[in-house]
Amino acid sequence: MKMQSMARPFLLLCFTLFLLSPCRSDSDPLQDFCVANRQAGDITVDGFPCKPSSSVVSDDFFSMALSKGGNTNNVFSANVTSADVLSFPGLNTLGVSMNRIDLAPGGLNLPHSHPRATELGFVLQGQLLVGFVSTSNVFYSKIVNEGENFVIPRGLVHFQYNVGKEKALVITAFNSQLPGVVLAPVSLFGSNPAIPSDVLAKAFQVDQQVVNLIKSKFGN
Ligand code: GLV
Ligand code: MN
Repeated sequence: MKMQSMARPFLLLCFTLFLLSPCRSDSDPLQDFCVANRQAGDITVDGFPCKPSSSVVSDDFFSMALSKGGNTNNVFSANVTSADVLSFPGLNTLGVSMNRIDLAPGGLNLPHSHPRATELGFVLQGQLLVGFVSTSNVFYSKIVNEGENFVIPRGLVHFQYNVGKEKALVITAFNSQLPGVVLAPVSLFGSNPAIPSDVLAKAFQVDQQVVNLIKSKFGN
Protein backbone atom coordinates (compact mmCIF):
# COMPACT_ATOMS: atom_id res chain seq x y z
CA MET A 1 0.00 0.00 0.00
CA LYS A 2 2.84 2.35 1.04
CA MET A 3 4.82 1.33 -2.07
CA GLN A 4 1.82 2.13 -4.20
CA SER A 5 1.40 5.63 -2.76
CA MET A 6 5.11 6.37 -3.37
CA ALA A 7 5.02 4.96 -6.86
CA ARG A 8 2.24 7.26 -8.02
CA PRO A 9 4.12 10.60 -7.67
CA PHE A 10 7.22 8.95 -9.16
CA LEU A 11 5.28 7.75 -12.19
CA LEU A 12 3.69 11.18 -12.52
CA LEU A 13 7.15 12.80 -12.49
CA CYS A 14 8.44 10.35 -15.13
CA PHE A 15 5.40 11.01 -17.28
CA THR A 16 5.84 14.80 -16.98
CA LEU A 17 9.54 14.53 -17.90
CA PHE A 18 8.60 12.32 -20.83
CA LEU A 19 6.08 14.93 -22.04
CA LEU A 20 8.57 17.74 -21.63
CA SER A 21 11.48 15.99 -23.32
CA PRO A 22 10.45 16.72 -26.93
CA CYS A 23 10.25 20.44 -26.00
CA ARG A 24 13.96 20.70 -25.17
CA SER A 25 16.51 21.96 -27.65
CA ASP A 26 19.79 20.08 -28.21
CA SER A 27 21.22 18.63 -24.99
CA ASP A 28 23.81 20.60 -23.05
CA PRO A 29 27.42 19.63 -23.81
CA LEU A 30 29.33 17.74 -21.12
CA GLN A 31 32.73 18.93 -22.34
CA ASP A 32 34.24 22.06 -23.96
CA PHE A 33 33.83 20.71 -27.46
CA CYS A 34 33.45 17.55 -29.48
CA VAL A 35 34.53 18.23 -33.05
CA ALA A 36 32.58 15.76 -35.18
CA ASN A 37 34.52 12.84 -36.55
CA ARG A 38 32.52 12.20 -39.71
CA GLN A 39 34.79 9.26 -40.60
CA ALA A 40 33.81 7.35 -37.47
CA GLY A 41 31.11 5.29 -39.19
CA ASP A 42 27.37 5.31 -39.23
CA ILE A 43 26.50 5.03 -35.57
CA THR A 44 25.26 8.37 -34.27
CA VAL A 45 23.17 9.14 -31.20
CA ASP A 46 22.16 12.80 -30.93
CA GLY A 47 25.27 13.96 -32.78
CA PHE A 48 28.54 12.55 -34.04
CA PRO A 49 31.46 10.90 -32.21
CA CYS A 50 34.28 13.30 -31.26
CA LYS A 51 37.65 13.61 -32.97
CA PRO A 52 40.42 12.78 -30.47
CA SER A 53 41.29 16.11 -28.80
CA SER A 54 44.96 15.57 -29.78
CA SER A 55 43.97 16.05 -33.42
CA VAL A 56 41.69 19.07 -32.88
CA VAL A 57 43.09 22.22 -34.51
CA SER A 58 42.07 25.91 -34.64
CA ASP A 59 40.56 25.43 -38.08
CA ASP A 60 37.93 23.11 -36.57
CA PHE A 61 36.32 26.18 -34.96
CA PHE A 62 36.18 28.39 -38.07
CA SER A 63 34.14 28.00 -41.22
CA MET A 64 33.71 29.61 -44.62
CA ALA A 65 30.44 27.73 -45.20
CA LEU A 66 28.43 30.97 -45.41
CA SER A 67 31.06 33.11 -47.11
CA LYS A 68 29.56 32.80 -50.57
CA GLY A 69 25.98 33.38 -51.68
CA GLY A 70 24.10 30.42 -53.11
CA ASN A 71 22.99 30.40 -56.74
CA THR A 72 19.53 31.96 -57.03
CA ASN A 73 19.20 31.01 -60.66
CA ASN A 74 16.46 28.43 -60.03
CA VAL A 75 12.69 28.23 -60.21
CA PHE A 76 12.25 29.76 -56.74
CA SER A 77 14.96 32.44 -57.22
CA ALA A 78 16.32 31.59 -53.77
CA ASN A 79 19.07 29.56 -52.15
CA VAL A 80 19.70 28.44 -48.57
CA THR A 81 23.27 27.71 -47.49
CA SER A 82 23.83 26.00 -44.13
CA ALA A 83 26.56 26.17 -41.53
CA ASP A 84 25.32 23.19 -39.50
CA VAL A 85 27.19 20.26 -38.03
CA LEU A 86 27.34 18.60 -41.45
CA SER A 87 29.27 21.46 -43.07
CA PHE A 88 30.94 22.73 -39.87
CA PRO A 89 31.93 19.74 -37.68
CA GLY A 90 33.12 22.03 -34.85
CA LEU A 91 29.43 22.68 -34.04
CA ASN A 92 28.94 19.10 -32.86
CA THR A 93 27.24 19.02 -29.41
CA LEU A 94 27.19 22.85 -29.17
CA GLY A 95 23.48 23.22 -29.99
CA VAL A 96 23.75 26.07 -32.52
CA SER A 97 23.89 26.56 -36.28
CA MET A 98 23.29 29.22 -38.91
CA ASN A 99 22.01 29.64 -42.48
CA ARG A 100 22.32 32.31 -45.10
CA ILE A 101 19.45 32.82 -47.51
CA ASP A 102 20.02 34.60 -50.79
CA LEU A 103 16.90 35.71 -52.61
CA ALA A 104 16.70 37.44 -55.99
CA PRO A 105 13.79 39.91 -56.39
CA GLY A 106 10.60 37.83 -56.19
CA GLY A 107 12.55 34.93 -54.65
CA LEU A 108 10.79 32.61 -52.22
CA ASN A 109 12.23 30.42 -49.49
CA LEU A 110 9.54 27.73 -49.67
CA PRO A 111 7.14 27.16 -46.76
CA HIS A 112 9.00 24.81 -44.43
CA SER A 113 9.52 23.94 -40.78
CA HIS A 114 12.42 22.93 -38.53
CA PRO A 115 11.54 20.02 -36.23
CA ARG A 116 14.48 20.60 -33.89
CA ALA A 117 14.95 24.38 -33.59
CA THR A 118 13.56 27.85 -33.20
CA GLU A 119 14.87 30.23 -35.87
CA LEU A 120 16.09 33.79 -35.26
CA GLY A 121 16.56 35.81 -38.43
CA PHE A 122 18.39 39.02 -39.28
CA VAL A 123 17.89 40.84 -42.58
CA LEU A 124 21.28 42.03 -43.82
CA GLN A 125 19.96 43.34 -47.11
CA GLY A 126 16.60 43.83 -48.82
CA GLN A 127 12.96 43.70 -47.88
CA LEU A 128 11.03 40.51 -47.23
CA LEU A 129 7.60 39.27 -46.31
CA VAL A 130 8.22 36.81 -43.47
CA GLY A 131 5.40 34.73 -42.07
CA PHE A 132 4.55 31.63 -40.07
CA VAL A 133 1.37 29.77 -39.10
CA SER A 134 0.73 28.79 -35.48
CA THR A 135 -0.79 25.51 -34.31
CA SER A 136 -4.05 27.47 -33.89
CA ASN A 137 -3.84 28.14 -37.63
CA VAL A 138 -3.19 31.87 -37.20
CA PHE A 139 -0.92 33.43 -39.85
CA TYR A 140 1.56 35.95 -38.38
CA SER A 141 3.50 38.01 -40.91
CA LYS A 142 5.27 41.27 -41.51
CA ILE A 143 7.42 43.05 -44.07
CA VAL A 144 10.91 42.94 -42.60
CA ASN A 145 13.55 45.45 -43.66
CA GLU A 146 17.33 45.65 -43.56
CA GLY A 147 18.65 45.64 -39.98
CA GLU A 148 15.52 44.00 -38.54
CA ASN A 149 15.01 40.68 -36.79
CA PHE A 150 12.30 38.05 -36.85
CA VAL A 151 11.73 34.84 -34.91
CA ILE A 152 10.05 31.62 -36.00
CA PRO A 153 8.97 29.34 -33.16
CA ARG A 154 10.22 25.78 -33.40
CA GLY A 155 8.33 23.42 -35.68
CA LEU A 156 6.00 25.99 -37.28
CA VAL A 157 5.63 26.35 -41.05
CA HIS A 158 7.21 29.60 -42.30
CA PHE A 159 8.64 31.31 -45.38
CA GLN A 160 10.57 34.36 -46.57
CA TYR A 161 9.55 36.14 -49.77
CA ASN A 162 11.61 38.90 -51.32
CA VAL A 163 9.11 41.70 -51.99
CA GLY A 164 11.77 44.33 -52.65
CA LYS A 165 13.32 45.45 -55.91
CA GLU A 166 16.86 44.37 -54.94
CA LYS A 167 18.40 41.08 -53.94
CA ALA A 168 17.87 40.13 -50.29
CA LEU A 169 20.25 38.50 -47.85
CA VAL A 170 19.11 36.98 -44.56
CA ILE A 171 21.09 35.28 -41.81
CA THR A 172 19.23 32.81 -39.60
CA ALA A 173 20.45 31.26 -36.35
CA PHE A 174 19.12 28.07 -34.74
CA ASN A 175 19.27 26.50 -31.29
CA SER A 176 20.29 23.18 -32.78
CA GLN A 177 23.42 21.92 -34.50
CA LEU A 178 21.12 20.29 -37.07
CA PRO A 179 17.65 21.92 -37.07
CA GLY A 180 16.32 19.67 -39.85
CA VAL A 181 14.03 21.01 -42.53
CA VAL A 182 10.66 19.80 -43.77
CA LEU A 183 9.88 21.58 -47.04
CA ALA A 184 6.08 21.43 -47.13
CA PRO A 185 5.55 21.17 -50.91
CA VAL A 186 8.50 18.81 -51.40
CA SER A 187 7.44 16.53 -48.52
CA LEU A 188 3.91 16.25 -49.84
CA PHE A 189 4.50 16.16 -53.59
CA GLY A 190 8.11 15.09 -54.03
CA SER A 191 8.65 12.35 -51.43
CA ASN A 192 10.36 9.10 -52.30
CA PRO A 193 8.42 6.86 -52.63
CA ALA A 194 5.56 9.19 -53.55
CA ILE A 195 2.46 9.66 -51.40
CA PRO A 196 -0.43 8.03 -53.36
CA SER A 197 -2.17 10.62 -55.54
CA ASP A 198 -5.64 9.65 -54.27
CA VAL A 199 -4.55 10.52 -50.72
CA LEU A 200 -3.38 13.96 -51.84
CA ALA A 201 -6.43 14.47 -54.11
CA LYS A 202 -8.69 13.78 -51.11
CA ALA A 203 -6.62 15.98 -48.78
CA PHE A 204 -6.58 18.94 -51.15
CA GLN A 205 -10.09 18.26 -52.56
CA VAL A 206 -8.93 18.36 -56.17
CA ASP A 207 -8.75 15.88 -59.07
CA GLN A 208 -5.83 13.49 -59.25
CA GLN A 209 -4.70 15.26 -62.47
CA VAL A 210 -4.07 18.39 -60.43
CA VAL A 211 -2.08 16.36 -57.91
CA ASN A 212 -0.10 14.68 -60.68
CA LEU A 213 0.68 18.05 -62.24
CA ILE A 214 2.02 19.38 -58.94
CA LYS A 215 3.92 16.13 -58.35
CA SER A 216 5.61 16.51 -61.73
CA LYS A 217 7.02 19.88 -60.59
CA PHE A 218 8.74 18.12 -57.68
CA GLY A 219 10.20 15.21 -59.63
CA ASN A 220 7.38 12.66 -59.08
C1 GLV B 1 14.96 30.25 -43.12
O1 GLV B 1 13.78 30.07 -42.93
C2 GLV B 1 15.97 29.26 -42.84
O2 GLV B 1 15.54 28.14 -42.53
O3 GLV B 1 17.18 29.55 -42.91
MN1 MN C 1 13.53 28.25 -41.70
